[in-house]
Amino acid sequence: MRKLIIAGNWKMHGTRTSVQALLTDLTKQLIVSDSVEMIVFPPFVFLEQAQRLLEGSAIKWGAQNIAAEQSGAFTGEISATMISDFACQYTLIGHSERRSLYGEVDDMVAKKFMLAKQARLTPVLCVGETLIEREKGLTQQVVSRQLGAILQLAGGAENLSQAILAYEPVWAIGTGLTATPEQAQEIHAMLRQQVAQLNPTIAQQLRILYGGSVKVANAKALFSMPDIDGGLVGGASLDAQEFLQIYYSAQAK
Ligand code: 13P
Repeated sequence: MRKLIIAGNWKMHGTRTSVQALLTDLTKQLIVSDSVEMIVFPPFVFLEQAQRLLEGSAIKWGAQNIAAEQSGAFTGEISATMISDFACQYTLIGHSERRSLYGEVDDMVAKKFMLAKQARLTPVLCVGETLIEREKGLTQQVVSRQLGAILQLAGGAENLSQAILAYEPVWAIGTGLTATPEQAQEIHAMLRQQVAQLNPTIAQQLRILYGGSVKVANAKALFSMPDIDGGLVGGASLDAQEFLQIYYSAQAK
């Protein structure tokens, strides 16, 4: 039985005041379930605040990105070991906004994935196709190439044993459009199958989250699918009540 995860990617939102309010509401109000984990991904500058407010609670925290280098003259970059210093256990890797807006190609994403592992972080590897790619019927090819880049570099599926996957169709991110549960399930099953070809045990244990306009209204139907192990939530994770309700809708699985 895979434990579900409800993760909040805050993207570039928040102030010290709003972070204080959001995390206080979450820690005070969350009724923890044994079958669902909660993780938040604040911007780097709020990680210390997150550590202070969340340590000792059931809520975990992580970073939205890490540098593709370990240390050195890379102005403006933040390394995996730096974020580990804030007791982060997770980092997003290869989010579609990093790929499309900051030129992160598969090789760079794979390098970041390995640096996260070396720093003992659990990478949350994001994959997903654009609308044009979906319309051209290339969805499976694109996500399988994105996952394949990691499997190749890692020399097998073993590195996925301490990793999480997130399928986020780019056309569903921040648009209000959501993949139907069936559309998402099809891709999740395919990704799991791709890992299973190398290592069936790891594939069975791998958590694959869905992301793209997850809301209270669609969460339950998505999470009820056999290969959807929770959600990576953007906009709706900035509202404590909405995020808590999404967490609770994962419990029912
Ligand atoms: P939205 O939930 O705002 O569509 O964002 C999804 C996402 O990109 C999470 O990483």
